[in-house]
Amino acid sequence: MSPTPTRSPKATTDQTAAEFERVRARLPDARSAYERAWLSLGRSLVSEYPSSAAFVRNRWEGQLHLLLCEVDRATADEIWRWLSGLDGRTTSVELHRGDWRERFLRGIPATFDAYFVSFDPNMYDRHNVRAPKPANMYPRDIAIVVAGIRGLPRVPLVLQVSTYSVNGANSQTDVLDDLVPQFANHGFTLAASVRADNAMMSMIFTRDMSVGSDLEPRFQSWLAGQTCDSVNGRVDR
Ligand SMILES: C[S@@+](CC[C@H](N)C(=O)[O-])C[C@H]1O[C@@H](n2cnc3c(N)ncnc32)[C@H](O)[C@@H]1O
Repeated sequence: MSPTPTRSPKATTDQTAAEFERVRARLPDARSAYERAWLSLGRSLVSEYPSSAAFVRNRWEGQLHLLLCEVDRATADEIWRWLSGLDGRTTSVELHRGDWRERFLRGIPATFDAYFVSFDPNMYDRHNVRAPKPANMYPRDIAIVVAGIRGLPRVPLVLQVSTYSVNGANSQTDVLDDLVPQFANHGFTLAASVRADNAMMSMIFTRDMSVGSDLEPRFQSWLAGQTCDSVNGRVDR
C-alpha cells in the first residue's frame, strides 16, 4: 500500500483500507524494515506513485537501476517528478511511458547483479480472452515476461505478481494453479503467496536465490496487530 494513499470513492475497491489505516496508526512502533520505510516515505513522498519503487529505493542501500513502465500520462508525470529528485550518483533510471509489454519485448538490461521484477496488474486472468484489457495480465503475457528476462545472467531474481480480483473464475487457488507451473517451467519457485483478503494476493517467485516462506503468516499477524515474533510463538499485542 502506498504510504500516501488516496481513498477510492468505490467502497468495494477499498474493502481493507480501514485495516491498513489501523495498522498505520500504530506504526510509530516501527519494528520492521517495512514499517520504518513506510513511516519515512509517508513523510517524504510527494505523490502516491510510484510507491513500489520508492520502497525499493528506500530499502536498497546500494546502487540501483530503476526501469519503470507506466501507461497513464498523468501518473507517468508523477513518477518522472519522483525519479528526477533521486540522486543520480546512486540511482540510474528509465521511464517507459507506455505499455510494459512493448518495453519487455525489447529486453531488459543484462548488466546487473540482481533483479526485482514487479507486476501490479488490476488482476491476473487465467483465460486468454479475445479482448484483453491492457491493465490485466493473461497467460499470454507470461510469455512476454519470460522473453524480457531471457537474456539476463543467472543472478538472483525476484518476480512479484499481484492480483486484486477473483472475478471471472479466477479464485486465488485457480490463479496459483495456473501461474506456478508456468513459472516453474522457467526455473522459478513460488517462495510465498500473500493474501491481503479474499481477492487481493501477491505472489513471490524466485530464481537462483531463496527467500523466507513465512511472509503470509507474518503479514496476517501484522495486520491483526501482533508483532512478527508472535508468529514464532510469542504473542505480543
Ligand atoms: C495498481 S497500480 C501499481 C502501482 C505501482 N506498483 C506503484 O509502484 O505505485 C497499476 C498502475 O499500472 C498502470 N498500468 C495499467 N496498465 C498498464 C500497462 N499495460 N502498462 C504500463 N502501466 C500500466 C496504471 O496506470 C497504474 O498506474
